[in-house]
Amino acid sequence: MDSTFTDRSTTAIPLLVLLMTTIFLDAPPVAGEPPSEVPFACKGAAAASGGTFTEAFCLSTLHGSKSTVGAADYADLALVAVDLATANATATEAMIDALLAAGTNGATPEGLGLQSCRALYGAVVRQYQPECRAAVKDGRYGDGKACLGRTAQEAAACERWFQQRKVASPVAREDDALAKLASLAIALASIA
Ligand SMILES: *[C@@H]1O[C@H](CO)[C@@H](O)[C@H](O)[C@H]1NC(C)=O
Repeated sequence: MDSTFTDRSTTAIPLLVLLMTTIFLDAPPVAGEPPSEVPFACKGAAAASGGTFTEAFCLSTLHGSKSTVGAADYADLALVAVDLATANATATEAMIDALLAAGTNGATPEGLGLQSCRALYGAVVRQYQPECRAAVKDGRYGDGKACLGRTAQEAAACERWFQQRKVASPVAREDDALAKLASLAIALASIA
């Protein structure tokens, strides 16, 4: 029995893995391509997500954003997700405005719900998301995660309005998308 060999191989393997991981993470980015840390980030984020989104959602979301190309680390990717959530909420707010302007007004249950969601999305777009971005950008991840949690709650609150009144939600898909993006940003901030 060569116990020296056994000892050496058990330490050599983790070292080798560490070395390979380091080389891979340090590989220079290829111009115009998403950085190599995206698959690692999505694996970690999905594991930290508590099942609120999948690794596939993370990959397709981050690969779908041009900002991902310039991201150097997990903190940058968290910021990309924050910005995607802001863009999403802004688009949904505009969609709600359009529905309300097109005559879905407070005289109908759907209109009442949309008015309630309009207020929730207004807070997300103008109050929470700017605060969340500043927190994540400053590396105040605890504040950032709490803030993004409020964004996700507003999306859930909009959806709950319709569910509780058994009215079909005209923004079900949008509420789901915002909740998922906020959860993605939270998970990325938690591994940043
Ligand atoms: C909002 O997010 C969803 C899910 O990521 C995406 O499919 C949709 O295109 C986004 N919409 C906008 C306007 O960003």
